[in-house]
Amino acid sequence: MNNLDDKLLEYITACSSSEDPVLAELYRETHSKILYPRMISGHLQGKLLEFISRMIKPTFILEVGTFTGYSAICLAKGLLPGGSLHTIEINDELQSVIKKYITKAGLDDTIVLHTGDAREIIPLLKPEFDLVFLDADKQHYLDYYKAVYLKMRRGGYLIADNVLWGGKVINFSGDKETCGIKAFNEFVKNDDRVEKLMLPLRDGLMLVRKR
Ligand SMILES: C[S@@+](CC[C@H](N)C(=O)[O-])C[C@H]1O[C@@H](n2cnc3c(N)ncnc32)[C@H](O)[C@@H]1O
Repeated sequence: MNNLDDKLLEYITACSSSEDPVLAELYRETHSKILYPRMISGHLQGKLLEFISRMIKPTFILEVGTFTGYSAICLAKGLLPGGSLHTIEINDELQSVIKKYITKAGLDDTIVLHTGDAREIIPLLKPEFDLVFLDADKQHYLDYYKAVYLKMRRGGYLIADNVLWGGKVINFSGDKETCGIKAFNEFVKNDDRVEKLMLPLRDGLMLVRKR
């Protein structure tokens, strides 16, 4: 979605449902007040996450990498009544903005924010997740994958963002992030415990289903 011609992107956006006003406000606040706003999912990817979540109808969702909460709010829209979304963010400076928008979205009783390192928090969670969204730092994707796999129910789904990493996965690049994404992609490719589909949307999405 990022690499498209601006006019085509405008057309695609016009042909899609409009952005929820709370999410539009969060998007604006993220761009005016938060460092590295490009990390936010945004309208089209957010809608895609919402659609996938609504199709899966999960009871429990886990997100690794909250940032300002945009994708968490989108994913939570697909939860069955009584379900909950756990989201993990290492940067405690983001807590107030995340909490503000969870409240504005009416999701105080639905979204549980964990502040800390996902590698320490994931092992403490109950193994019950129907849907996982992996979107934290790219260097440790494989660590997160191995940890969350144990917490997914059979038949559960995982979506990993940025698996093309701007195309660096097929060009020589020795930086830590590209190496992390390549190690994750290679591991998932050879992981017979799961079905997988890599989608060339935006920066690449890997869809995984635990057998
Ligand atoms: C790409 S952003 C997430 C974007 C968000 N999911 C969205 O779509 O709007 C990645 C986030 O992961 C967080 N992060 C990085 N390493 C982490 C870790 N070890 N545990 C938890 N969060 C981490 C970063 O602080 C950052 O806010």
